Amino acid sequence: MTAFDEAALDQAFAQVEGQAREEAAAIASDEAVEAYRLRWLGRKQGRLNDVSGRWLKAAPPEAKKALGLRFNALKTAVEGLLDTAKGAGPSDAALAAEAIDISLPGTRRLTGAEHPITKTLNEIVSVFAGLGYSVGVGPEVETDYYNFECMNFPPGHPARDTQDTLVIAGQDRKPQRDRLLLRTHTSPVQMRTMEMQPPPVRIVIPGKVHRNDAADATHSPIFHQVEGLCVDTNITFSDLKGTLDYAMKALFGSSVKTRFFPSFFPFTEPSADVQISCIFCGGKGCRKCKQSGWIELLGCGMVDPAVFAFAAEKQPAYDSKKISGFAFGLGVERIAMMKYGISEIGQFFAGDMRFLGQFA
Ligand code: DAH
Repeated sequence: MTAFDEAALDQAFAQVEGQAREEAAAIASDEAVEAYRLRWLGRKQGRLNDVSGRWLKAAPPEAKKALGLRFNALKTAVEGLLDTAKGAGPSDAALAAEAIDISLPGTRRLTGAEHPITKTLNEIVSVFAGLGYSVGVGPEVETDYYNFECMNFPPGHPARDTQDTLVIAGQDRKPQRDRLLLRTHTSPVQMRTMEMQPPPVRIVIPGKVHRNDAADATHSPIFHQVEGLCVDTNITFSDLKGTLDYAMKALFGSSVKTRFFPSFFPFTEPSADVQISCIFCGGKGCRKCKQSGWIELLGCGMVDPAVFAFAAEKQPAYDSKKISGFAFGLGVERIAMMKYGISEIGQFFAGDMRFLGQFA
C-alpha cells in the first residue's frame, strides 16, 4: 500500500473484506471453519495480523487513525463471518441431498399374530392344563421303535399301512427298530414320557406329524395332533369319557354332547372313536354332519397292556396289574376347521396373508 487517503483506504479494505466474504461463503465443514479462523484471525500468520502489521507500519502518522478505524471494522466483519460459518452447519447442497419428504406416509410394520393352528393348539393344551395335565414334546424325526413297535404295531403288522410316511434313506444296515422316519402321530411321546417318569402321568403332547396322504380338502401330508395320556391307579373308561366330554364342552361350548363308538387302535384296548353333536346344526342334521347330527372328532382308548409292557422295560412301575390309563389323539386342523368354518385344510399352509390376516 502506497496511498493512504480516504479513497485508497476504502478500496484496499473493501478488497480484503470481499476476499474474506468469498472464502467464508465456501466453508462447508467444521475443518474448513477452523482453517478459516487460522487463516484470517491467527495470531501469527493470520491475514488481519498481516494487514495491521504491514499497513499500519507503512502509514504516515496522520492516516493511522483512519486506518485503525477501518481495521477494527474489518476485524468485526471477519469475526461475524466466522460466527455465521460456525453456526451454519452443512451447506445447502448437503442439506438438500439428505432431505426427506415428511408428507410421505411412514412404513407400517405388521403386528405379528398366532397362526390359527398354533392358536387352536394352545387352546386345546390350555383346556387340559386346567385339568392338571403338563405338556410334553418329542422329536419329529422318530425311530421305527417309538413310532410303531412300542405302540404295538409289530413289524409287518397291517395297521402300519394306515400310517405310511417318509423314511430316511440309507439306513439298511441298522436294525429296523433304529431306523428313522417322520413320525406319523404324536403317540410315540407317550412312551418317551413313560420311560422318563413312573406313574402317575397326566400329559398332553402337541406336535407336527407327517403322512403319505394325498392332499384333498381335509387331508394334508403335514398336520398337527394333540396326544393325551393319563396313567394312575384305578383309571377307568369312565374317567376317559368324563375327561373328553368336559374337554369337548370347553372347546366347543357347553351344549355339545359326546358319544363313544367301538374302534381299533393297536395301542389301546378297548378303543373308541368320539363323536360330538354337530356344532353347526345343534344335532338336527345338516350338510356338515351329513344329516346325522354327529361329527366324528377323535380317537381314544384304554392303554393296551402291551404298551405298558414296553414302558416297564425302563420303568417297572408300569405294571398293568397295578396301574391303568387312557390315551387320546386329536387332530388340530380338524378342530380349527370346525371352530373357524374353514373348508380347505390347505389354507393353513398356503401362507396367503389374506387368509391368515383374518386371525390377527
Ligand atoms: N395316534 C392316532 C392316530 O394318529 C390317534 C390316537 C387314537 C391317539 C387313539 C391315541 C388314541 O392316543 O388312544 O390316528
